[in-house]
Amino acid sequence: MYGVILLLVLAMVVAACSSSDDDGKSADAGSKKGDGGKNQVEIFSWWTGAGEEDGLLALIDKFQEENPDLKVKNAAVAGGAGTNAKAVLATRMQGNDPPSTFQVHGGEELNKSWVAADKMEPLDDLYKENDWMDKFPKDLIDLVSNDGKIYSVPVDIHRGNVIFYNKKVFEENGIDVPKTFDEFVTAADKLKKAGVTPLAMGDKESWTATMIFENVLLAELGPDDYIKLFKGDIAFDDKRVVESAKKFGKLLDYINDDHASRNWQDSAQLVANGDAAMLNMGDWAKGYFVNDLKLKTNKDFGYFAFPGTEGNFSIITDTFGLPKGIDNPDEVKKFLTFLGSTEAQDIFNPLKGSIPARVDADESKYDEYGKDTMADFKEASLVPSLAHGSAASEGFLTKANQAVNIFVTQKDVDTLIQSLKNAAPEM
Ligand code: GAL
Repeated sequence: MYGVILLLVLAMVVAACSSSDDDGKSADAGSKKGDGGKNQVEIFSWWTGAGEEDGLLALIDKFQEENPDLKVKNAAVAGGAGTNAKAVLATRMQGNDPPSTFQVHGGEELNKSWVAADKMEPLDDLYKENDWMDKFPKDLIDLVSNDGKIYSVPVDIHRGNVIFYNKKVFEENGIDVPKTFDEFVTAADKLKKAGVTPLAMGDKESWTATMIFENVLLAELGPDDYIKLFKGDIAFDDKRVVESAKKFGKLLDYINDDHASRNWQDSAQLVANGDAAMLNMGDWAKGYFVNDLKLKTNKDFGYFAFPGTEGNFSIITDTFGLPKGIDNPDEVKKFLTFLGSTEAQDIFNPLKGSIPARVDADESKYDEYGKDTMADFKEASLVPSLAHGSAASEGFLTKANQAVNIFVTQKDVDTLIQSLKNAAPEM
């Protein structure tokens, strides 16, 4: 509930901001009744612009082709990780003007914001009709379930604990892939001396810094205690959390000076053009490198698990559900059925950089990164991402992002720990 209230406050801040995408086309979200009549399916997401929209547009094309009688409205609101979209969505949901379906992360973002507020229809029947119960991993179905009911359909699985690196920069500077924090620091010092920015960061939207911090937490705590931390079973002043804050501060010694004016794509460009060596980003960055910047996997850029997190998989899953109170649930179920098909998942994910949420997708459609990630996903310990809504409520995440944002400039460990402690009751 706190999450919803906070989102509403945020919504007021961005209310003036119209929902136009990167190309300046008005996405029109919020100005009309979401479902827009029987024959229209309105898809609400934050996938606009480079690195984000290719997969969505390909999905929409295919769905249109198969359902010529339905009109799809792409109501995307720009801003990585839903920075603006989540607030616009909150306004619409509170005003009983839900989109036909909307992007929502599996885990607490779905459950604590929308299921708890009784805004979502259960989809158990849809799963049964489509014989999906064994087509999605059980852990994933659990992430989109609450009190034994399933509330959304996952379209992808992104990984958050990856570092992408420029291969040429590593080679030229004699850098080996660092496996531990200390190895990372040694490599970063060497790069810095050579005049290369070791770690690219673009925290114009602060979630990108939160991602780095959550990965340090995962490395320090290990998967079980990382999960316990966000369940409230380990306190934020635990000495390993304090140590994580210190290490996070150390990593910030290696970022680009203009980090605050860059978004995630801008920071990825630093690695693409060799100005920076490494980037910790979800693997939507892989989609951006390959599809937008035309780089080659394992030739121009490589990837490795965030130091200390090998064998773990920070999971970010984009899902879509059925809001209560829309006029056209049957049409929306058609779209959700499509979204859950192997056909749709194998169109979307190779473009998005993610792996399919389904277990029976066609591996041959994915590059080496995709294949490696699918293999890792099967073996790894899965942990929910904080920065992408799965680990904790929106209320907590908003405060954590603010605290991290302040930390990036002040590097005050005590203040960060105290802010997280204060926000913990909202998790
Ligand atoms: C995440 C989302 C990804 C990607 C990313 C950057 O929250 O799950 O699909 O869009 O934000 O915007």
